[in-house]
Amino acid sequence: MCGIVGYVGGREAANVIISGLHRLEYRGYDSAGLAVIHPDGVLDVFKCKGKVDDLERFLQGKNAGGTIGIGHTRWATHGEPSDANAHPHLSRSGDLALIHNGIIENYRVLRDALRTQGFTFRSSTDSEVLVNLIEYVRDEHRCSLEEAVREALSQVVGAYAIAVIERGDTSRIIAARKSSPMAIGVGDGEYFLSSDAASIIGFTQDFVYLNDGEIAVIERGKPLHIMTLDGAESPVAIQKLRLSISQLEKGGFDHFMLKEIHEQPETLEDCIRGRVIPGTREVILSGVLDNKERFLAARRIIFVACGTSWHASLIGEHLIESMCRIPVEVEYASEFRYRDPVIYPDDIVIAVSQSGETADTLAAVGMARKAGAFVYGICNVVGSSIPRATHSGTYIHVGPEIGVASTKAFTGQVTVMAMMALLIGRLKGTIDEGYYHRVAQAILELPATIREALKTAPEVASLARMFTYAHNFIYLGRGYNYPTALEGALKLKEISYIHAEGLPAAEMKHGPIALIDAEMPTVAIATPDSTYEKTLSNIEEIKARGGKIIAVVCKGDDLVRRSADYCIEVPSTVECLMPVVSIVPLQFLSYYIATYKGRNVDQPRNLAKSVTVE
Ligand code: F6R
Repeated sequence: MCGIVGYVGGREAANVIISGLHRLEYRGYDSAGLAVIHPDGVLDVFKCKGKVDDLERFLQGKNAGGTIGIGHTRWATHGEPSDANAHPHLSRSGDLALIHNGIIENYRVLRDALRTQGFTFRSSTDSEVLVNLIEYVRDEHRCSLEEAVREALSQVVGAYAIAVIERGDTSRIIAARKSSPMAIGVGDGEYFLSSDAASIIGFTQDFVYLNDGEIAVIERGKPLHIMTLDGAESPVAIQKLRLSISQLEKGGFDHFMLKEIHEQPETLEDCIRGRVIPGTREVILSGVLDNKERFLAARRIIFVACGTSWHASLIGEHLIESMCRIPVEVEYASEFRYRDPVIYPDDIVIAVSQSGETADTLAAVGMARKAGAFVYGICNVVGSSIPRATHSGTYIHVGPEIGVASTKAFTGQVTVMAMMALLIGRLKGTIDEGYYHRVAQAILELPATIREALKTAPEVASLARMFTYAHNFIYLGRGYNYPTALEGALKLKEISYIHAEGLPAAEMKHGPIALIDAEMPTVAIATPDSTYEKTLSNIEEIKARGGKIIAVVCKGDDLVRRSADYCIEVPSTVECLMPVVSIVPLQFLSYYIATYKGRNVDQPRNLAKSVTVE
């Protein structure tokens, strides 16, 4: 969470930093700030509570000139959002300014030790402790800033991506990372620094990704110098990031979320391209094919993920169990990593993450690797930490997802899982050719199917207006669509702040049906599948108790229509891909309810896009 940016070169640093911070605001938006070193060596900090726009207003009429600087947008962990807790933090003497993403777990011990040395603190953050620790080490050891950073970090327990600048030094930034992302953009005589390479793609496409435990000395006009915390030299590997600026803009939509819902036909085309071959309908996933023996010998597959990615994994469980006959478990990464789970060397652990940076999922990957399992990633952000920590994987390739509520990543994840299940099932001989070709064809047709499903927008928008009053919602689904119900409920909760619960429809009788009355709307996903008749009965039971029902059905359905108050028709596809289609009107429903309630859809309260803290 928190976004960090840095610049050293020939441009006005503040301009580069503000532009980067705007693109990083999805990572945190409760306060923002920047520090620059003026050409005469004076170090100045500008920061305030609020968004990057507030910081821009704050800077008006002030001198933030200089060609070296660092900036930060915050998602509070230690200390409430306030001017004092905003980054950058200055050291006691004002010599050093630091920005930090992550959590210093032993900051209390370090702070108490520094207090005995006469240090005082202006904020309640762990980050201010770190900048003072660096200064203390620098002064005690009379060493260079990079040596002081290295020594100070050896005393730190926790996660960090940091950047530090020093008064009087107009050419160097020292950066370091452990468990929080950091990319260095390489330009012509200039360097950029960011938590997310995409945020500075307008300036360069060449990036060096810092690895865990590495420190970089970034100096204007000099080659990058990267070393480990132990002082060993690290190679500098430049990678090209192919992204266009238009992928990072709203493209005429009011919100990124709406744009991302609407671009799903195209993002799924990108996800499928070259992986399901039109004509032959061959599925080619190099991550699976290169590790065929591993997949064929797998005793079990364990998905580890959080939030929306966890919901997609529940669909992955259905797909793999039914097509590959491999037992599957789906774990919240945060529970898995602390539970001392049984992991066998012939298990395959699949980490699913849009950002590729979720701290718990990354930690679960580390644990699975240690236990000897083969670890596979299904991620979106190219070059992020999880794909770099796994043995192999498949990118979903849906492009940058900027809206905090995940939409196109979910449909991309499920599509990749369907391709994997088809391929493994065929390799194992657990599905017949007819089924294989039917599903492969349906995957090829998914972009067109979603294009059709997007036409539900106006109808869902008017339904949303009718239900904006509700304080609670129930979402029901069965089989493949139970995870869709969970995902629909999560979408509503996170952006409209309406309480919503996703349930397997048959569980209603075991308690939740007591909640049903005229004030409790139920969204039922009732597309024709192996549990269709049963879902129909569950709808009847709600109806009989006076509940209002909005049903998602397939075109031409007239059975559900007899019981439901409102029906949203989506096109049909094979049962195992139905969640990719039926989630679309639920994405719209949450979006429109939230906008009618006046919520900030792209930046909902208390949330940040990448959860890089535990
Ligand atoms: C929900 C949402 C979150 C993320 C979760 C995992 O809309 O965005 O629940 O799905 O934080 O994030 P990733 O997939 O980046 O690991």
